[in-house]
Formats: sequence, C-alpha cells, structure tokens
Amino acid sequence: MATEVEKDHLSGVETTGHEWDGLKELNNPLPKWWLYVLYACIAWAVVYWVLYPAWPLGTTYTKGILGYSSRATLFQKMDEARQSQAQYLDAIAKTPLDQLRGNAELLNFSLAGGRTMFNENCVPCHGAGGQGGHGYPNLADDKWMWGGTLADIYQTIQHGIRADDPDTRISQMPRFGADGVLTRPQIDDTAEFVLSLTGTSTDAEAAKRGAVLFAENCVACHGDKGQGTAEVGAPALNDGIWLYGGDKKTVVETITYARGGVMPAWSKRLDDTTIKQLAVYVHELGGGK
Ligand code: HEC
Ligand code: HEC
Repeated sequence: MATEVEKDHLSGVETTGHEWDGLKELNNPLPKWWLYVLYACIAWAVVYWVLYPAWPLGTTYTKGILGYSSRATLFQKMDEARQSQAQYLDAIAKTPLDQLRGNAELLNFSLAGGRTMFNENCVPCHGAGGQGGHGYPNLADDKWMWGGTLADIYQTIQHGIRADDPDTRISQMPRFGADGVLTRPQIDDTAEFVLSLTGTSTDAEAAKRGAVLFAENCVACHGDKGQGTAEVGAPALNDGIWLYGGDKKTVVETITYARGGVMPAWSKRLDDTTIKQLAVYVHELGGGK
C-alpha cells in the first residue's frame, strides 16, 4: 500500500506521519554539527577500545594495546611506597635515639610516623595534639613530671608509669589523710601553703603553719620550693599547671588520698622503631629538653 508523503502546508516540510491531537511531527534533517559530534564520539570510542581495556570477555576482558591497568599501577605504587618506608624504618632501627634528630630525613619521617601512631594510640588519653586533660598530662608544654629529654620520653613510653612492666616508672605519694599521717587541720594548712606557691592562698597564717608541714612531709618529693622532682615523677606545685586541679578542695583531696596516675607500657604492643618515632614526635610537640 503506497502511502502518499504528506507535506505541512505552512512550512512545506514533509511530515513523518506521526500525529498527536492534530499536531504533526515535521521530518527536518538532523543539524550538521550534531551529526559531526556523534561521528567524533564514535571514532573516539573505537580508538579507546583499541588502546585501553574495554570489552568484557567472560572471565577476562580486552586488554588494549597500551596494556594499562589501574590495579597494576596501584600495586606498583604501593610496592614503591613500602620499599621506601622499609628503607627509612630500617635506618631508624639502626640509628641511636639521640642521633635521630640530627638527620633531617629521618627526623621528618619519624615526625610523620609518630603523629600517625600518636593519633592511633595516645589521643584517647592525652587528647588531640597531646594537650592533656584531667589526670592526663599535657605533652605539648615544656613541663614534665618524669623528664622531658628524648631518652626520658622514650623510657616513659616503653615501660609506662605504674604500669604492668618490670621496668615501669613508679612512685607513690603517701595518703596523708587516709593513713592518718596528718590531721585534717594540718592538711588544710599544708594546702594553703601549696596554694601560696602560686599566689592563690587566702589565709596567710595557715600558709605559714603549712610551710613547716610541707618542709617535713613534702619536700623530699616536691622539692624545697615545690619545683618537683623528675626522678619520682612528683610534679611541680609552683607553676600553676595542675594535673588534678589547683583549687583548695582538690588539693585537700590530693593530700588526703594521694594520686597515682597510670600510663600503660607500650614495649609489648609497639615495636622499638615505632616507640622511637613516638618519642621524637612527643619531644617535638612542645617542650622537649
Ligand atoms: C590509658 C591512658 C593513656 C594512654 C593510652 C597513654 N597515656 Fe601517656 N600518660 C597517661 C597518664 C595517666 C600519665 C601520667 C602518669 C602520672 O600521673 O605520672 C601519662 C604520662 C605520659 C608521659 C609522661 C609525661 C610527663 O610529664 O613526664 C608521656 C611522655 C606519655 N604519657 C606519652 C604517651 C604516649 C606517647 C602514648 C601513646 C603511645 C601514651 N602516653 C598513651 C595515660 C595514658
Ligand atoms: C613519695 C613522694 C611524694 C611525697 C612525699 C609527696 N608527694 Fe605529692 N605527689 C607525688 C607524686 C608522684 C604525684 C603525682 C601523682 C600522679 O601523677 O598521679 C604527686 C602529686 C601531688 C599533687 C597534685 C598536683 C597536680 O598537678 O594536680 C599535689 C597537690 C601534691 N602532690 C601535694 C603534696 C603535698 C602537699 C605533700 C606533702 C604533704 C606531698 N605531695 C608529698 C609524690 C609525692
């Protein structure tokens, strides 16, 4: 059945014969630019199929003549990274702790590695950036309870403080109140003296009486001026930095019941190279000595 080609009577263009509610579709040719873009895309696709992996073939695929594989590239890059890391880790393992900082490359590598390990292991207690919190010392300032040299920090990390480790750092402040060494009024006086070291005492008479008690009971660990003693991890009481709090109530509580912060030992959990990097990182954080 021969159909007659119908023409739109306004534009004279042929119609396709499709009609919706009296609207007829005109059979205009596709624009040239559109066609060229289409051909260019087809040509590009063919070139791409030839050069790069493209068509699935059951369990494998066409590899393309360039042999490109993002998987292989990734493995190669990972391998390179591992090799260069291994080289640094090896050098760190062989370099004595006190010489690590003298080598700019090893120092940078240790700082980067130390930061990662610090974020993974130490931040829960010491806070992001090591700023500390109640009962957890700030590692980013230059005040140290147990010493701030690289070797001190290394030993602290390795063996911990009051930790389950035969070489752990250990000391115990006596429980002056709980064990009846000092009476409640004596503890009050000693606390006033402790506060006077940072100029926050409100009772000069009590502080004066407290000075005598401090000399008898506290200087052995905290020093004659309250400057602290690193050998026993006794913090300075005259610098305004408080691990547990510097208000009267807290100081009275500390003298009554004492304190004994525990820092885990890491030598069983982390290898020596990692602990070295951590020590370098912590030392660099603030005031390493
Ligand atoms: C479970 C909590 C905890 C974790 C985790 C922890 N620490 Fe500690 N750390 C402490 C406490 C508590 C102290 C203070 C102990 C005391 O009172 O003497 C301390 C003390 C220290 C000190 C001594 C500070 C000084 O003033 O002498 C260093 C250095 C230190 N930590 C480093 C680290 C590093 C590095 C890590 C991660 C590998 C780490 N800590 C993980 C709780 C923790
Ligand atoms: C055997 C040593 C020793 C003696 C003696 C001692 N202390 Fe301490 N003191 C420590 C140690 C160690 C700490 C830190 C405890 C910790 O880190 O958890 C400490 C902590 C403190 C703190 C907490 C400081 C802070 O930053 O929050 C105060 C306050 C304090 N002592 C006061 C005294 C006073 C006052 C006396 C004497 C009546 C005294 N101590 C006697 C070892 C001692």
